[in-house]
Amino acid sequence: MKHDHSPVLPGHGATDYARYMRTDTLLDLQRSADEAIHRDELLFQVVHQSTELWLKLATAELTEASTEVSAGRLPVAEALLARATLAVRLVTDQLEMLSHMSPVDFAAMQPALGNGTGAESPGWRGVQAASRQLGRAFDGRLTTQGITVADLHPAGTADPLDRLAEAMVEWDERVSVWRVRHYQVALRTGGYPPAGQPGTPANMLAKLAEHRFFPELWQARIRPSAAR
Ligand code: HEM
Repeated sequence: MKHDHSPVLPGHGATDYARYMRTDTLLDLQRSADEAIHRDELLFQVVHQSTELWLKLATAELTEASTEVSAGRLPVAEALLARATLAVRLVTDQLEMLSHMSPVDFAAMQPALGNGTGAESPGWRGVQAASRQLGRAFDGRLTTQGITVADLHPAGTADPLDRLAEAMVEWDERVSVWRVRHYQVALRTGGYPPAGQPGTPANMLAKLAEHRFFPELWQARIRPSAAR
């Protein structure tokens, strides 16, 4: 049987795939070979742009997870948080592609970037704001249930609040793993000297790898379990 592939959706593009996925626009977002001052700009833009997309998803899932926490639907929040965590794992993996660029190639394309820095990434900013929002929603939930962080036992229990706390620790850890990997990419591809001098970019990145959104939940894990 022959399938009819003629487009039925509104919008631009020769096929429904192109119209729904907006591939014409998407694939036009990278500098052409004519515009680029270095051939690796495509690699660099693809890694960054796809990171922004995954973090857009992570932010949306985290934001909805906060709403679910406030509503007391903790297993739903945990499932949404797992999606956000997987998104961060994927963007950590794609940092590997940048190891294919040498510091000399990176320096050659740097004029194309202007004063731009990943610190201005809307994806990472969104993730940070949404993580803080999740922390506030979780604190609110503890208050509603009349308990404190000291009553939690995140590691190894089946209680929905404990399980969510453990998922939040996992999230924290995955963000930190991204930062550790990013720090190493900055050294290897950016050619920065390793951390040591206070105030240098490498020092700042190394310090940030220790950052935790939910330090009190990490603390809660090391207390022995007791029945609640
Ligand atoms: C060749 C690749 C890369 C190099 C050499 C590099 C280098 C750096 C450096 C030196 C900093 C410190 C702040 C500054 O001086 O601007 C920084 C910060 C940052 N970069 Fe990158 N970076 C690279 C790739 C990426 C990618 C793919 C992303 C993803 C969006 C990213 C996101 C960030 C973020 C969010 C910060 C703020 C620090 C943090 O939150 O941990 N960078 N980067």
